[in-house]
Amino acid sequence: MTKTQVQLRVNGRTHELWVGTNRLLLDALHDDLGMADVRYGCGEGVCGTCTILLDGEPVSACLLFAVQVEGREITTLTGLPAADAESHPIQDCFLQAGAAQCGFCTPGMMLTALALVERTERPTREDIRYELVGNLCRCTGYTKIVDAVEEYACRRRGNGSHD
Ligand code: FES
Ligand code: FES
Repeated sequence: MTKTQVQLRVNGRTHELWVGTNRLLLDALHDDLGMADVRYGCGEGVCGTCTILLDGEPVSACLLFAVQVEGREITTLTGLPAADAESHPIQDCFLQAGAAQCGFCTPGMMLTALALVERTERPTREDIRYELVGNLCRCTGYTKIVDAVEEYACRRRGNGSHD
C-alpha cells in the first residue's frame, strides 16, 4: 500500500511517520511510537483500553486512522504533567484508593476521568460511573475506581472534602 507522511502531535512533541492511509491511530501510537500506555483490548471501540485525549476529549484510538488526526493534540497518560517528579495527582488517587489491580485498563480509565473532572467540577458517583461506562475493568469491581475519581475531583477543587 502507498504510504503517506503524517505528523502526529503527541504529548507536546511532533512525530513524523510514514503510514498507510488505513493505519489505525492505536497501532501508530503503540507500535510505531512505542507508547505502551495506549493498549489494544477489543479493537472495536468497546473496552476503552486504547483511550487517548484528542484535543482534550477522550476517544478510542482503535476507531481512528492516524491520518485523520494530523494537527490535533494527542495526550496519553505518560504525557500528563506530574505534580512531583513521578506522578500526576490522578495516579496518586488511583494508587491510594487501590483502584488498579492488573493495571491494563488504568491509563484509559484515568484519561476518561480527567476529561470528566475537567468538564464537571463536582461529579456525583453516578456521573463518574456513567462517564466510565466505556472503560471496562476485569479486576476491580469499579467501586475503588469511582472512589479514586471522586477523590481526584475533590483534590482538584482544593477543599479536601467530598461535600
Ligand atoms: S481497543 Fe479500542 S476500545 Fe477496545
Ligand atoms: S485493573 Fe485489571 S482490568 Fe482494570
